[in-house]
Amino acid sequence: MTKDFLQITDFTADEIKGTFDIAEKLKKGDSSYSNILKGKTVACIFHKPSLRTRISFETGIYELGGYSLYITDKEIELGVRESIYDAAKVLSRFVGIITIRTFEHALVEQLAEHAEIPVINALTDLTHPCQVMGDIFTAKEHLGKVDNLKIAYLGDGNNVCNSWLNLASRIPMDLRIGTSPDTLPDEVTFNRARDAGISTITVTQDASLAVADADVIYTDVWASMGQKHLADHKIQLLREFQVNDELVSKASPNCIVMHCLPANRGQEITDSVMDGKHSVVFDEAENRLHIQKAIMVQLMGRR
Ligand code: CP
Ligand code: NVA
Repeated sequence: MTKDFLQITDFTADEIKGTFDIAEKLKKGDSSYSNILKGKTVACIFHKPSLRTRISFETGIYELGGYSLYITDKEIELGVRESIYDAAKVLSRFVGIITIRTFEHALVEQLAEHAEIPVINALTDLTHPCQVMGDIFTAKEHLGKVDNLKIAYLGDGNNVCNSWLNLASRIPMDLRIGTSPDTLPDEVTFNRARDAGISTITVTQDASLAVADADVIYTDVWASMGQKHLADHKIQLLREFQVNDELVSKASPNCIVMHCLPANRGQEITDSVMDGKHSVVFDEAENRLHIQKAIMVQLMGRR
């Protein structure tokens, strides 16, 4: 059993559902876990900007009795000023958990390999597991179930899309990815999800086909952090995948619309959908707090 949470596939289906049970209790104000980080510091290393992830982690750490230490790359210059191995060993002597948001996923894997404490992926170029855990927890709240949902992911085949594929390796779903041939998700992640044989996974260039009768319509920015120079090119590739009222009308009448935020309103999603009756985007944002607290509870229990 892993001590880290680098990808959703680090948890079994039972552990994922167990995490939802803990998050549900935490959201209701259950105080059973309020001392789980007592006397512990959590290093929050951020090499990219963040509103939701940083604030929800720091707030969650405080609510679990711990202290959070925000560290940008300027302070520790991970892998530059000293090796990842040495930094991992030193951090393990000081803090109880490391959360890290960075570019290269391999850096996080190396840190986790050498650290003697849990490491949590707070977003890499490859995946954003805490996000999609919070998203499926939000879908469960609104739709009353987790298994066998029809999920339409529209737009860039990015880190969030890859995390949906990882979730599809664990939880049965009908996942339709609407994207262009030049913005496909990570091939290794896609093949692993398909080979897991748990979910139906379709990739289509037809946005209407992707959303037909869907329970969940999901989108994210077309140019992720670190790719902003590609923004104009991505707009050309992905304009047909904009989540607008016309597209939403093709999904289930009770569908929910999700976006991990931050959004480029008017680009991948229109104002009327973001602010419309199907949108649950701010519930998703709130649930980052509850689900990340639950993930920390799970990891502390495994040490
Ligand atoms: N959704 C999300 O991770 O937001 P931030 O980049 O603001 O943390
Ligand atoms: N795909 C986006 C997600 C932001 C939360 C990015 O990596 O910038």
